[in-house]
Amino acid sequence: MATDIKALFCIGLAVVLTGVGKSALIGKTHSGGKDDPVLQYVVNNSLREHPVLTKLRLRTLEDPWAIMLVSSDQAQFMANLIKLINGTKAIEIGMYTGYNALSMALAMSENGRVVACEKEEKYVNIAKPFFKENEIVQQTARCTSTFCQYVFTKCCRLESKKVSAQETVSPKDAKQGNALIAGGEAGTFDFVFIDADKTNYDGYYEKSLELIRKGGIIAIDNVLWSGRVVNPAPSDNTSQALDALNKKLHKDQRIDLSMLTVGDGLTIAIKR
Ligand SMILES: C[S@@+](CC[C@H](N)C(=O)[O-])C[C@H]1O[C@@H](n2cnc3c(N)ncnc32)[C@H](O)[C@@H]1O
Ligand SMILES: *[C@@H]1O[C@H](CO)[C@@H](O)[C@H](O)[C@H]1NC(C)=O
Ligand SMILES: *[C@@H]1O[C@H](CO)[C@@H](O)[C@H](O)[C@H]1NC(C)=O
Ligand SMILES: *[C@@H]1O[C@H](CO)[C@@H](O)[C@H](O)[C@H]1NC(C)=O
Repeated sequence: MATDIKALFCIGLAVVLTGVGKSALIGKTHSGGKDDPVLQYVVNNSLREHPVLTKLRLRTLEDPWAIMLVSSDQAQFMANLIKLINGTKAIEIGMYTGYNALSMALAMSENGRVVACEKEEKYVNIAKPFFKENEIVQQTARCTSTFCQYVFTKCCRLESKKVSAQETVSPKDAKQGNALIAGGEAGTFDFVFIDADKTNYDGYYEKSLELIRKGGIIAIDNVLWSGRVVNPAPSDNTSQALDALNKKLHKDQRIDLSMLTVGDGLTIAIKR
Protein backbone atom coordinates (compact mmCIF):
# COMPACT_ATOMS: atom_id res chain seq x y z
CA MET A 1 0.00 0.00 0.00
CA ALA A 2 1.47 3.24 -1.10
CA THR A 3 0.49 5.21 1.94
CA ASP A 4 1.24 2.52 4.45
CA ILE A 5 4.58 3.53 5.85
CA LYS A 6 5.94 0.69 7.87
CA ALA A 7 9.67 0.43 7.68
CA LEU A 8 12.49 2.88 7.74
CA PHE A 9 15.99 2.11 6.69
CA CYS A 10 19.47 3.34 7.18
CA ILE A 11 22.07 3.84 4.53
CA GLY A 12 24.71 2.15 6.67
CA LEU A 13 22.91 -1.18 6.76
CA ALA A 14 24.48 -3.81 4.60
CA VAL A 15 21.20 -5.37 3.64
CA VAL A 16 19.75 -6.20 0.30
CA LEU A 17 16.67 -4.11 0.10
CA THR A 18 14.99 -5.84 -2.79
CA GLY A 19 13.11 -7.99 -0.37
CA VAL A 20 11.92 -5.18 1.81
CA GLY A 21 8.90 -4.84 -0.37
CA LYS A 22 6.23 -2.33 -0.89
CA SER A 23 5.68 -1.32 2.68
CA ALA A 24 9.22 -0.06 2.98
CA LEU A 25 10.05 3.55 3.14
CA ILE A 26 11.66 6.25 3.45
CA GLY A 27 13.51 7.70 6.36
CA LYS A 28 17.22 7.27 6.89
CA THR A 29 19.35 8.31 9.79
CA HIS A 30 23.08 8.48 10.29
CA SER A 31 22.68 6.47 13.47
CA GLY A 32 20.60 3.65 12.04
CA GLY A 33 16.97 4.56 11.97
CA LYS A 34 15.33 1.40 10.81
CA ASP A 35 12.90 1.11 13.68
CA ASP A 36 13.27 4.54 15.19
CA PRO A 37 9.74 5.46 16.31
CA VAL A 38 10.59 9.15 16.34
CA LEU A 39 11.62 9.10 12.70
CA GLN A 40 8.51 7.10 11.93
CA TYR A 41 6.52 9.74 13.74
CA VAL A 42 8.17 12.47 11.68
CA VAL A 43 7.31 10.69 8.46
CA ASN A 44 3.79 9.80 9.59
CA ASN A 45 3.03 13.36 10.51
CA SER A 46 4.78 15.47 7.92
CA LEU A 47 5.30 13.63 4.67
CA ARG A 48 3.17 14.87 1.79
CA GLU A 49 4.41 12.71 -1.02
CA HIS A 50 3.17 13.43 -4.51
CA PRO A 51 1.49 10.31 -5.97
CA VAL A 52 4.02 10.07 -8.78
CA LEU A 53 6.84 10.16 -6.23
CA THR A 54 5.18 7.36 -4.27
CA LYS A 55 5.04 5.27 -7.42
CA LEU A 56 8.65 6.04 -8.28
CA ARG A 57 9.77 5.21 -4.75
CA LEU A 58 8.00 1.86 -4.81
CA ARG A 59 9.52 1.08 -8.20
CA THR A 60 12.95 2.08 -6.90
CA LEU A 61 12.63 -0.24 -3.91
CA GLU A 62 12.66 -3.14 -6.37
CA ASP A 63 16.21 -2.20 -7.32
CA PRO A 64 19.08 -3.92 -5.46
CA TRP A 65 20.68 -0.53 -4.82
CA ALA A 66 17.56 1.07 -3.38
CA ILE A 67 19.59 1.96 -0.31
CA MET A 68 20.89 4.86 -2.42
CA LEU A 69 17.42 6.37 -2.64
CA VAL A 70 17.16 9.74 -0.94
CA SER A 71 14.93 9.70 2.13
CA SER A 72 11.51 11.13 1.45
CA ASP A 73 11.46 13.54 4.36
CA GLN A 74 14.80 14.92 3.17
CA ALA A 75 13.57 15.29 -0.41
CA GLN A 76 10.52 17.15 0.85
CA PHE A 77 12.71 19.44 2.94
CA MET A 78 14.85 20.28 -0.09
CA ALA A 79 11.74 20.87 -2.21
CA ASN A 80 10.55 23.29 0.43
CA LEU A 81 13.90 25.09 0.36
CA ILE A 82 13.47 25.51 -3.38
CA LYS A 83 9.99 26.96 -2.86
CA LEU A 84 11.34 29.24 -0.14
CA ILE A 85 13.87 30.81 -2.49
CA ASN A 86 11.52 30.69 -5.49
CA GLY A 87 13.95 28.42 -7.25
CA THR A 88 13.51 27.70 -10.93
CA LYS A 89 16.90 26.22 -11.83
CA ALA A 90 18.45 23.27 -10.07
CA ILE A 91 21.16 20.70 -10.61
CA GLU A 92 21.39 17.22 -9.20
CA ILE A 93 24.73 15.45 -9.26
CA GLY A 94 23.90 11.76 -8.92
CA MET A 95 20.28 11.26 -9.90
CA TYR A 96 19.85 7.48 -9.46
CA THR A 97 16.19 6.73 -10.34
CA GLY A 98 15.17 10.37 -10.19
CA TYR A 99 13.18 10.63 -6.98
CA ASN A 100 14.75 13.85 -5.81
CA ALA A 101 15.12 15.31 -9.32
CA LEU A 102 11.40 14.88 -9.84
CA SER A 103 10.65 16.19 -6.36
CA MET A 104 12.66 19.34 -7.14
CA ALA A 105 10.92 19.80 -10.49
CA LEU A 106 7.53 19.48 -8.80
CA ALA A 107 8.53 22.21 -6.36
CA MET A 108 9.19 24.71 -9.13
CA SER A 109 6.97 27.01 -11.07
CA GLU A 110 6.10 26.04 -14.62
CA ASN A 111 9.28 27.33 -16.17
CA GLY A 112 11.45 25.35 -13.81
CA ARG A 113 14.42 23.38 -14.98
CA VAL A 114 16.35 20.55 -13.42
CA VAL A 115 19.66 19.38 -14.82
CA ALA A 116 20.22 15.90 -13.47
CA CYS A 117 23.46 13.97 -13.93
CA GLU A 118 23.52 10.20 -13.80
CA LYS A 119 26.17 7.95 -15.26
CA GLU A 120 24.16 4.72 -15.21
CA GLU A 121 21.78 4.45 -18.12
CA LYS A 122 19.82 1.71 -16.37
CA TYR A 123 18.80 4.07 -13.58
CA VAL A 124 17.77 6.78 -15.99
CA ASN A 125 15.61 4.23 -17.77
CA ILE A 126 13.77 3.57 -14.52
CA ALA A 127 13.24 7.31 -14.09
CA LYS A 128 12.01 8.16 -17.57
CA PRO A 129 8.40 6.87 -17.47
CA PHE A 130 7.80 8.64 -14.17
CA PHE A 131 9.07 11.92 -15.58
CA LYS A 132 6.88 11.51 -18.63
CA GLU A 133 3.89 10.73 -16.46
CA ASN A 134 4.23 14.13 -14.94
CA GLU A 135 4.93 15.79 -18.25
CA ILE A 136 8.52 16.33 -17.34
CA VAL A 137 9.91 15.89 -20.76
CA GLN A 138 13.39 14.72 -21.44
CA GLN A 139 15.08 17.21 -23.70
CA THR A 140 18.67 16.18 -24.03
CA ALA A 141 20.87 13.28 -23.05
CA ARG A 142 24.56 13.75 -23.68
CA CYS A 143 26.93 11.09 -22.52
CA THR A 144 30.66 11.14 -21.99
CA SER A 145 32.89 8.47 -20.58
CA THR A 146 32.34 9.84 -17.11
CA PHE A 147 28.64 10.42 -17.02
CA CYS A 148 25.48 11.42 -18.78
CA GLN A 149 23.72 14.68 -18.43
CA TYR A 150 19.98 14.83 -18.75
CA VAL A 151 18.04 18.02 -18.96
CA PHE A 152 14.37 17.98 -18.13
CA THR A 153 11.93 20.74 -18.73
CA LYS A 154 8.70 20.91 -16.88
CA CYS A 155 5.24 21.15 -18.34
CA CYS A 156 6.44 20.99 -21.92
CA ARG A 157 7.78 24.50 -21.75
CA LEU A 158 10.90 24.03 -23.73
CA GLU A 159 14.17 25.61 -22.80
CA SER A 160 15.75 27.45 -25.66
CA LYS A 161 19.24 27.07 -24.32
CA LYS A 162 20.97 23.87 -25.36
CA VAL A 163 23.39 22.25 -23.00
CA SER A 164 26.54 21.11 -24.72
CA ALA A 165 28.02 17.64 -24.60
CA GLN A 166 30.60 18.69 -22.05
CA GLU A 167 30.31 17.27 -18.60
CA THR A 168 28.31 19.33 -16.21
CA VAL A 169 30.46 19.48 -13.15
CA SER A 170 33.25 16.99 -13.56
CA PRO A 171 36.17 17.97 -11.34
CA LYS A 172 38.50 16.05 -13.64
CA ASP A 173 37.68 18.42 -16.49
CA ALA A 174 37.83 21.53 -14.38
CA LYS A 175 40.53 23.00 -16.59
CA GLN A 176 38.21 22.98 -19.55
CA GLY A 177 35.41 24.46 -17.55
CA ASN A 178 32.08 22.79 -18.15
CA ALA A 179 29.06 23.10 -20.33
CA LEU A 180 26.87 25.09 -18.01
CA ILE A 181 29.60 27.56 -17.16
CA ALA A 182 30.78 27.74 -20.76
CA GLY A 183 27.16 28.27 -21.79
CA GLY A 184 27.03 31.43 -19.70
CA GLU A 185 25.08 29.94 -16.82
CA ALA A 186 27.56 30.57 -14.03
CA GLY A 187 25.86 32.31 -11.14
CA THR A 188 22.37 31.50 -12.36
CA PHE A 189 21.31 28.33 -10.55
CA ASP A 190 19.20 28.43 -7.42
CA PHE A 191 19.89 25.02 -5.99
CA VAL A 192 22.36 22.14 -6.34
CA PHE A 193 22.06 18.73 -4.72
CA ILE A 194 25.36 16.86 -4.55
CA ASP A 195 24.79 13.13 -4.13
CA ALA A 196 27.22 11.21 -6.39
CA ASP A 197 30.71 9.73 -5.84
CA LYS A 198 31.76 10.98 -2.43
CA THR A 199 35.50 11.28 -3.05
CA ASN A 200 34.81 13.85 -5.78
CA TYR A 201 32.50 15.97 -3.63
CA ASP A 202 35.04 18.75 -3.20
CA GLY A 203 35.26 19.26 -6.95
CA TYR A 204 31.50 19.18 -7.30
CA TYR A 205 31.21 21.69 -4.48
CA GLU A 206 33.63 24.15 -6.11
CA LYS A 207 31.83 23.92 -9.46
CA SER A 208 28.45 24.26 -7.78
CA LEU A 209 29.60 27.39 -6.03
CA GLU A 210 30.41 28.87 -9.42
CA LEU A 211 27.07 27.81 -10.85
CA ILE A 212 24.74 29.12 -8.17
CA ARG A 213 23.69 32.68 -7.63
CA LYS A 214 24.18 34.68 -4.46
CA GLY A 215 21.59 33.33 -2.03
CA GLY A 216 21.49 30.03 -3.89
CA ILE A 217 21.77 26.80 -1.96
CA ILE A 218 24.12 23.83 -2.25
CA ALA A 219 22.81 20.76 -0.45
CA ILE A 220 25.33 18.00 0.16
CA ASP A 221 24.18 14.51 1.08
CA ASN A 222 25.76 11.84 3.30
CA VAL A 223 28.05 14.25 5.11
CA LEU A 224 27.88 12.07 8.24
CA TRP A 225 28.37 8.78 6.37
CA SER A 226 26.66 6.73 9.08
CA GLY A 227 28.86 8.44 11.65
CA ARG A 228 32.10 7.26 10.07
CA VAL A 229 33.30 10.85 9.54
CA VAL A 230 34.07 10.94 13.27
CA ASN A 231 37.75 9.95 13.50
CA PRO A 232 37.76 8.12 10.18
CA ALA A 233 40.25 5.35 9.62
CA PRO A 234 43.22 6.40 7.43
CA SER A 235 42.31 3.69 4.90
CA ASP A 236 38.70 4.85 4.66
CA ASN A 237 38.99 7.22 1.71
CA THR A 238 35.33 8.09 1.53
CA SER A 239 35.04 9.04 5.18
CA GLN A 240 38.34 10.92 4.96
CA ALA A 241 37.10 12.91 1.96
CA LEU A 242 33.77 13.75 3.59
CA ASP A 243 35.46 14.76 6.85
CA ALA A 244 37.94 16.97 4.99
CA LEU A 245 35.12 18.65 3.06
CA ASN A 246 33.09 19.19 6.24
CA LYS A 247 36.09 20.84 7.88
CA LYS A 248 36.81 22.94 4.80
CA LEU A 249 33.22 24.22 4.64
CA HIS A 250 33.28 25.11 8.34
CA LYS A 251 35.97 27.69 7.53
CA ASP A 252 34.67 28.69 4.10
CA GLN A 253 33.72 32.37 4.21
CA ARG A 254 32.03 32.21 0.81
CA ILE A 255 29.00 30.53 2.35
CA ASP A 256 26.61 30.49 5.27
CA LEU A 257 26.46 26.99 6.67
CA SER A 258 24.31 24.44 8.45
CA MET A 259 25.04 20.76 8.91
CA LEU A 260 21.83 18.90 9.61
CA THR A 261 21.37 15.44 11.05
CA VAL A 262 18.57 14.83 8.56
CA GLY A 263 18.97 11.53 6.74
CA ASP A 264 22.62 10.50 6.60
CA GLY A 265 23.69 14.07 7.24
CA LEU A 266 22.79 17.01 5.03
CA THR A 267 24.89 20.12 4.65
CA ILE A 268 23.20 23.29 3.54
CA ALA A 269 25.58 25.88 2.13
CA ILE A 270 24.14 29.24 1.13
CA LYS A 271 26.25 31.34 -1.19
CA ARG A 272 27.11 34.76 0.20
C1 LIG B 1 23.10 8.06 -3.76
S1 LIG B 1 22.69 7.85 -5.45
C2 LIG B 1 21.67 9.26 -5.81
C3 LIG B 1 20.27 9.23 -5.20
C4 LIG B 1 19.36 10.26 -5.78
N1 LIG B 1 19.86 11.60 -5.57
C5 LIG B 1 17.93 10.13 -5.30
O1 LIG B 1 17.20 11.11 -5.33
O2 LIG B 1 17.48 9.07 -4.89
C6 LIG B 1 24.21 8.23 -6.30
C7 LIG B 1 24.14 8.13 -7.80
O3 LIG B 1 25.25 8.80 -8.36
C8 LIG B 1 25.62 8.14 -9.54
N2 LIG B 1 26.99 8.53 -9.85
C9 LIG B 1 28.14 8.16 -9.23
N3 LIG B 1 29.19 8.78 -9.78
C10 LIG B 1 28.71 9.56 -10.76
C11 LIG B 1 29.28 10.46 -11.68
N4 LIG B 1 30.60 10.67 -11.72
N5 LIG B 1 28.47 11.10 -12.54
C12 LIG B 1 27.14 10.89 -12.52
N6 LIG B 1 26.54 10.07 -11.67
C13 LIG B 1 27.31 9.42 -10.80
C14 LIG B 1 25.45 6.67 -9.21
O4 LIG B 1 25.30 5.90 -10.38
C15 LIG B 1 24.18 6.72 -8.35
O5 LIG B 1 23.05 6.47 -9.13
C1 LIG C 1 3.09 5.41 11.70
O1 LIG C 1 2.04 4.97 10.86
C2 LIG C 1 1.96 3.57 10.74
C3 LIG C 1 0.93 3.26 9.67
O2 LIG C 1 -0.27 3.94 9.91
C4 LIG C 1 1.61 2.97 12.09
O3 LIG C 1 1.57 1.56 12.02
C5 LIG C 1 2.68 3.38 13.09
O4 LIG C 1 2.33 2.94 14.39
C6 LIG C 1 2.86 4.86 13.10
N1 LIG C 1 3.99 5.17 13.97
C7 LIG C 1 4.09 6.31 14.65
C8 LIG C 1 5.25 6.41 15.58
O5 LIG C 1 3.29 7.20 14.55
C1 LIG D 1 9.13 33.74 -8.47
O1 LIG D 1 9.75 33.58 -9.73
C2 LIG D 1 8.90 33.82 -10.80
C3 LIG D 1 9.63 33.41 -12.07
O2 LIG D 1 10.96 33.86 -12.07
C4 LIG D 1 8.44 35.25 -10.78
O3 LIG D 1 7.57 35.49 -11.84
C5 LIG D 1 7.72 35.51 -9.47
O4 LIG D 1 7.37 36.87 -9.38
C6 LIG D 1 8.59 35.13 -8.27
N1 LIG D 1 7.83 35.22 -7.07
C7 LIG D 1 8.33 35.68 -5.93
C8 LIG D 1 7.42 35.64 -4.75
O5 LIG D 1 9.47 36.10 -5.86
C1 LIG E 1 42.55 5.27 -1.12
O1 LIG E 1 43.36 6.23 -1.75
C2 LIG E 1 44.68 5.80 -2.01
C3 LIG E 1 45.47 7.00 -2.49
O2 LIG E 1 44.73 7.79 -3.36
C4 LIG E 1 44.63 4.67 -3.01
O3 LIG E 1 45.91 4.22 -3.30
C5 LIG E 1 43.82 3.54 -2.42
O4 LIG E 1 43.65 2.52 -3.37
C6 LIG E 1 42.44 4.04 -2.00
N1 LIG E 1 41.76 3.00 -1.29
C7 LIG E 1 40.51 2.69 -1.53
C8 LIG E 1 39.95 1.59 -0.68
O5 LIG E 1 39.84 3.24 -2.38
